[in-house]
Amino acid sequence: MADPRPVPIPAKLMAGHIPTHVGVVMDGNGRWAQRRGLPRTDGHGAGEEALVDTTYGALAMGIKALTVYAFSTENWRRPVDEVRYLMNFNRSLLERRQHELHEVGIRITFSGRRDWRVPRGVLRRMEEASALTKDNTAMTLNIAFNYGGRAEIVDAVKQLVADGLSANKVDERAIAERLYHPELPDPDLVVRTSGEYRISNFLMWENAYSELVFTDVLWPDFRREDLYEAVGEYQQRERRFGGLET
Ligand code: FPP
Repeated sequence: MADPRPVPIPAKLMAGHIPTHVGVVMDGNGRWAQRRGLPRTDGHGAGEEALVDTTYGALAMGIKALTVYAFSTENWRRPVDEVRYLMNFNRSLLERRQHELHEVGIRITFSGRRDWRVPRGVLRRMEEASALTKDNTAMTLNIAFNYGGRAEIVDAVKQLVADGLSANKVDERAIAERLYHPELPDPDLVVRTSGEYRISNFLMWENAYSELVFTDVLWPDFRREDLYEAVGEYQQRERRFGGLET
């Protein structure tokens, strides 16, 4: 299926530097629903359209990887019904969308712990979507699910120990190589919606030098135009990586 809503990308934007990897904290679903007198879960449901449209927009811009924060290791503390909804939602979203995303060349991957808390049916769908799309190269949609940035670092360190590395062999590269997706470059840009100014344990290691863009838009209202705007803001920034301007 072709892009259902192609929206021209401003030429000025395409003339500038397009980020290779963008991270998104999809926040504000609950507030979006509450403002409409709906249950919080309706906000997550409405977030699907935002996610799909943003994915198509990223693909159209030539962004190579999009990591979206879908469920954090802290989200287990939410009411049991909401957790159940989010688990089922992840599964059904993959069922609904994996073929469409596959057809446009998107590789679907996951970052996070595949532990006992994630229902087996959800894990199966995740594996199926990864397997179906594994050879696609147009863009990677990396879904951070049961993900925590600190947990990711802990898991990398556990792997270091399991690999028998001696202390003098432990360096940044040794850790980076053991993250969930070492093949993905660090995000150039991270966008957070809903007017919250926090990282909330998202890509703690990888975000060391990312540009951060915050928008008041609630996630269910977010569309590719908002992504274009965020990339425009990113292009105004100077990235020095701790050095001096060149
Ligand atoms: C935060 O909004 C959002 C989430 C915890 C889930 C985000 C998930 C999606 C948008 C859909 C994609 C989901 C999957 C499972 C693939 P919030 O509930 O914290 O909003 P609030 O801050 O207004 O309460």
